[in-house]
Amino acid sequence: MDDPDSRPAIADDTVVLDSYTTVYLGYPIWWGDAQRIMSTFVEGHDFEGKTVIPFCTSGGSPIGRSGDNLAAQAGSGNWLRGERLDAGISEDEIQSWIDKLN
Ligand SMILES: Cc1cc2nc3c(=O)[nH]c(=O)nc-3n(C[C@H](O)[C@H](O)[C@H](O)COP(=O)(O)O)c2cc1C
Repeated sequence: MDDPDSRPAIADDTVVLDSYTTVYLGYPIWWGDAQRIMSTFVEGHDFEGKTVIPFCTSGGSPIGRSGDNLAAQAGSGNWLRGERLDAGISEDEIQSWIDKLN
């Protein structure tokens, strides 16, 4: 995390996004940002024509600029404002967050 250019390899990235138009991208906050392996992921996929919704968990830090940083690294996609979801969030609360996005 000390090195913003670090890109840890993903051991087995079998994700195929072709058939999706909306992508929810979740990650834990590490040192105020998305883990660097998330940068590996977004740089390795094409989000052209897709809506991307970043969300995070954390010990308390807000999502901050982590979604904007990932959007810049991805270089494609329509990225919505991200959200921090609390560890204790209920299914109803998640659904109402999703409903508000649509
Ligand atoms: C290396 C490392 C760095 C972390 N940095 C932060 C941080 O800057 N802010 C924060 O609120 N939480 C931080 N955390 C906590 C994680 O975000 C948290 O454990 C993760 O979101 C999982 O949430 P949960 O433990 O509630 O399931 C860090 C955790 C690790 C392992």
